[in-house]
Amino acid sequence: MKPRKLHIKSYGCQMNVYDAQRMVDTLAGEGFVETASVDDADLVILNTCHIREKASEKVYSELGRLRVAKDEAAREGRRMNIAVAGCVAQAEGREIINRAPVVDVVVGPQSYHHLPQLLARAEKDGRALETEFPTEDKFAFLPPPKPDKIRARGISSFVTIQEGCDKFCTFCVVPYTRGAEVSRPVAKIVDDVKRLADHGVREITLIGQNVNGYHGEGPDGRTWSLGTLLRYLAEIPGIVRLRYSTSHPRDIDEALIEAHRDIPAVMPFVHLPVQSGSDRILSAMNRKHTADDYRRAVDRFRAVSQDIAFSSDFIVGFPGETEEDFQATLALVTQIGYAGAYSFKYSPRPGTPAADMQEMVSADEMDERLARLQELIDSQQSAFNKAAIGTTVDVLFERAARNPGQIVGRTAYLQPAHVMAGESIIGQVLPVRIDSLERYSLLGELAGPLPTLAPSGTQPSINSSETRMGA
Ligand code: 5AD
Ligand code: SF4
Repeated sequence: MKPRKLHIKSYGCQMNVYDAQRMVDTLAGEGFVETASVDDADLVILNTCHIREKASEKVYSELGRLRVAKDEAAREGRRMNIAVAGCVAQAEGREIINRAPVVDVVVGPQSYHHLPQLLARAEKDGRALETEFPTEDKFAFLPPPKPDKIRARGISSFVTIQEGCDKFCTFCVVPYTRGAEVSRPVAKIVDDVKRLADHGVREITLIGQNVNGYHGEGPDGRTWSLGTLLRYLAEIPGIVRLRYSTSHPRDIDEALIEAHRDIPAVMPFVHLPVQSGSDRILSAMNRKHTADDYRRAVDRFRAVSQDIAFSSDFIVGFPGETEEDFQATLALVTQIGYAGAYSFKYSPRPGTPAADMQEMVSADEMDERLARLQELIDSQQSAFNKAAIGTTVDVLFERAARNPGQIVGRTAYLQPAHVMAGESIIGQVLPVRIDSLERYSLLGELAGPLPTLAPSGTQPSINSSETRMGA
């Protein structure tokens, strides 16, 4: 049978990137192969994001373009199926088909293991929609990726360990689109990580909407937290780096702090969103922590290692935010000192409590606050990057860079680092002497002798000790 072609486009967070890969793995079993072009695709999936208005509107402009491609395919006598997956699918359901009749399948983030059946239904009945939260766990039904797929995806991989959120921050759609917090059992995660490691993956980022709220069933029948899980995964041969994202400041337990203290594979870079530095706004956001709680959380990490750097998310212009509240955010940023951060203008999301709040901050004020915050964060980020110059840092090499002869990898802090070297270093952690900085990228030279060369990605590398960077 001729393979059918699948084009998938993901928007939004890391979870969507991971989900898109799992959809590809699921559809591979149905004879689908990926294509980079929309025009020759038999199936186009838009894996959508609902977090802010801009993100969710993108899907409709893309659907407008897809209508043209679908008509063109029909003129050639081909059927092009169009599926909308992800959080817009969950939030808007049938409304998507009403607004964009070009869509054949709508599938929510908890149901994409049913894609083959939904496609069959769409071919038969013209349309198929599934946005229920099924009782079964989709992960139990998703086929694992094939070895060649794992290799093609590179040496760093995401693994979902937890999904959904019970925190109900008043601005956020996630509890509605992704549902209640569910943790996957440890044994399943270990199987996934071992398979990835066996086929060349060296770095795992454990992902979840509230990843440090992880409370999965351990092999001993007890509930394991993220710290315990990290300790276990660090023992898997081949895994040299572990990361996790995104964390909530309230769910930091001692096991996580100890994991940072004891396990070299746990990277000293923590994404810990705070959203605002004003207690009044944090309370209106229902964050369930104060700015001081957040400062204390950061201190707990720093108490076990001064090397730990932080990134965060911020929202400016939440309803009722005054200049004084905003000043408190700037003060917090100044005090913590970030290696980087994402900042967003508040966007009211239908169905969330904040969407009904009055006292909207004007668009001009939001723009102005965003610019001021970003300027402060940029200056912290560039100071952090500059501090690497002249130091020796460990880099996990990922792939050949655009410039011939250069290989690019990442430091512990996810900074891209380039060296001139052979491709045999891909998959290894090696010390690099940093000479200069070009925009966000570090340039340097391999420091010290190369370890015995092995074909890339076939042998676990030594995780040499992370060299302290002055942050
Ligand atoms: N408006 C603006 N930013 C938002 N985020 C979540 N919801 C909204 C919203 N309604 C931001 C938060 C969150 C990040 C993923 O997106 O900062 O941490
Ligand atoms: Fe959204 Fe808050 Fe849950 Fe994060 S913790 S996913 S911001 S509701």
